[in-house]
Amino acid sequence: MNKDLLNIMLPDKKNTKYLFFGGKGGVGKTTMATATAVWFADHGYKTTIVSTDPTVSLSAIFAQHIGGDAKVPINEVKNLCGLNINPTDSKGVFLTRLTGVMSQISGTFGNDVVSTPCMEEMATFDQFVSFLEEPDGDVVVFDTAPTGKSLRELAMPFDWAGFLQKQIVEGKKLAELLNTGDNANSMQDLEKDKRRYDTALNVLQNKSATVFNLVLLPERLPIEETQSAITGLAKLGIPVQGLLVNQTILPEVIEGNRFLQARADLQKTYLDEIDNRFSSLLQTRLPLLDHDVSDLTSLRKVGKLLYG
Ligand SMILES: Nc1ncnc2c1ncn2[C@@H]1O[C@H](COP(=O)(O)OP(=O)(O)O)[C@@H](O)[C@H]1O
Ligand SMILES: [Mg+2]
Repeated sequence: MNKDLLNIMLPDKKNTKYLFFGGKGGVGKTTMATATAVWFADHGYKTTIVSTDPTVSLSAIFAQHIGGDAKVPINEVKNLCGLNINPTDSKGVFLTRLTGVMSQISGTFGNDVVSTPCMEEMATFDQFVSFLEEPDGDVVVFDTAPTGKSLRELAMPFDWAGFLQKQIVEGKKLAELLNTGDNANSMQDLEKDKRRYDTALNVLQNKSATVFNLVLLPERLPIEETQSAITGLAKLGIPVQGLLVNQTILPEVIEGNRFLQARADLQKTYLDEIDNRFSSLLQTRLPLLDHDVSDLTSLRKVGKLLYG
């Protein structure tokens, strides 16, 4: 347990705190995010857990249906609500606008001029931005955080929007094309969306509003993934503040078992590497448990191990 990490995650009474848990698949993001959300709710903070994972993890863990239309109160946990944003229910107005503008440009200049953006990620991000725009409660915990790479991909169409808008302002021929017909206002709307995106980015860049954590295992590939996520996020001005090292093997569980000893020895070299490479980040560790973390009881146990 690391009190320093907990301290930067604690919300002050006036502003909503956003907590992100990113990292490689299977390292324990959902476990850490949900355990953290339950811990905060149990300690009296109005908390929401938001998942952008298309699988049903949240519903399974809390044994109740958690959908994407509205936050639902979690039955057994006072102060906790859940929301599962489903990227395939693309309700994003932004998506419709962008598709409209893109098809018009393609129609005029040919398809190779405009690349099709990643629609699912876009829809997810659109809802994600809406969430950051309307702060609600003390703590919002995001399971499945956008990494540096996906954020950069998502920013690209906005660059396009800015570029095209500039053409319009400069009175180029494009202006006439885009300002006629059904999509007359699309460019202005895209600009509006770009501003929304910038607002969301500001929240992510603000160290006191957002704590971006990365989850990893003491193994080679998660360490490298952590490094590249830190680099990618840094390019967008988003600092990673916390590192949660999962599934460490405690000495007391080894009991002379050679297999466990070998794994623990290997972990030791990686844990040293993590300490050295990421020395500026606040770190906490969660031991490898003798059970999975798939219900409320085990989530509370993890929360206690993490935060006391
Ligand atoms: N410290 C741990 N000890 C034992 N099992 C764990 C631990 N952390 C996570 N798990 C289990 O590992 C699996 C993957 O974790 P999960 O949180 O779903 O990863 P992710 O969301 O990063 O894909 C889950 O079945 C979870 O219960
Ligand atoms: Mg997950």
